[in-house]
Amino acid sequence: MTDRRLILGIETSCDETAAAVVARDPTGAGTILSNVVRAQIEAHAPYSGVVPEIAARAHAEICDHVVDAAMKESAVEFAELNAVAATAGPGLIGGVMVGLLTAKSIALATGRDFVAVNHLEAHVLTPRLTHGVAFPYLVMLASGGHSQWVLVRGLSEYERLATTIDDAIGEAFDKSAKLLGLGFPGGPAVENAAKNGDPTRFSFPKPLTGRPTFDISLSGLKTAIRQEAEALQPLSDGDISDLCASFQATVTEIITDRTARILDRLHADGVSLTAIVASGGVAANQTIRNALEDLAAERSLPVAMPPMHLCTDNGAMIAWAALEHHAAGRRDPLDFPARSRWPLDEKAAPKLGFGRAGVKV
Ligand code: KG4
Ligand code: ZN
Repeated sequence: MTDRRLILGIETSCDETAAAVVARDPTGAGTILSNVVRAQIEAHAPYSGVVPEIAARAHAEICDHVVDAAMKESAVEFAELNAVAATAGPGLIGGVMVGLLTAKSIALATGRDFVAVNHLEAHVLTPRLTHGVAFPYLVMLASGGHSQWVLVRGLSEYERLATTIDDAIGEAFDKSAKLLGLGFPGGPAVENAAKNGDPTRFSFPKPLTGRPTFDISLSGLKTAIRQEAEALQPLSDGDISDLCASFQATVTEIITDRTARILDRLHADGVSLTAIVASGGVAANQTIRNALEDLAAERSLPVAMPPMHLCTDNGAMIAWAALEHHAAGRRDPLDFPARSRWPLDEKAAPKLGFGRAGVKV
């Protein structure tokens, strides 16, 4: 009898249908045995954003095929699994329900344990799978739906130190790309256009900088781009490149300013971090990655950036979070609900949609 655990993880909370089988050995080291991801980019591209109803239908159509592919690729039988896990939230509720029901059905039919996973927790635990990072560490999680800085003190010990009070960082990239007529998803399109641009041509606002908060606000940036773009009509390719480069430089400055101040605070509080981690789709951005790497080097801290396919939504991170919890004794009931909202740090007050000043309106 070995203590090696095997879990099938299913992810359907946004626009990726994903399943993976991951192993965890008794030392705590993880191995990805399969990781199948089917993105829905084409289905949502005409709308320049993820349409919840289209996403849910697409998940329902392919989820069992994706699970089947992940099981075959791993060469693991259902009977060998310790548990079946799925994202139970936060996310688009229709999609979450598809993955959750699939996982529960498999667990019930095969007599395996079931583990419900918080999607944000799966993102923040990924560097333990990819880099074996020890606690405590700081994660900057930036995707289309979430932007937060989280201190990971231990399993289930998460402190959200900062978040956005309006748009998520990836969302700001997507909205800017849309108003400049670039494609979806906007992040890669903006980064690409920015390559030939002048990052100093436009000066965009950096709200909340210098205030006694670590939170960020990005909706004013989008308005500023719209105003510049309207004033320049018709836009040349050079104008678009300069707008993208200036936008990217501003976002990078906001991110590094907050990260630096958070590091100062943690240092003053005597928290000895093992690493800084950047995750989520935005961590694909080379300018942002480079800036965080420079900052970490200044502070003599290692940076752990999971490879891109594990920064964006995937099943391996769900299986891994479930493995960590399963090893600690966690099992969830089959009536565990799907949650559209499920904050990682239950103590932190919600900020999104609270108005630009961070005050409930
Ligand atoms: O983590 P992710 O794949 O999905 C979730 O939102 O959960 O993140 C997608 C987001 C999109 O908003 C996309 O525009 C952004 O990440 N993104 C980028 C880049 N690649 C993807 N943002 C900036 N630069 C990039 N290279
Ligand atoms: Zn995600």
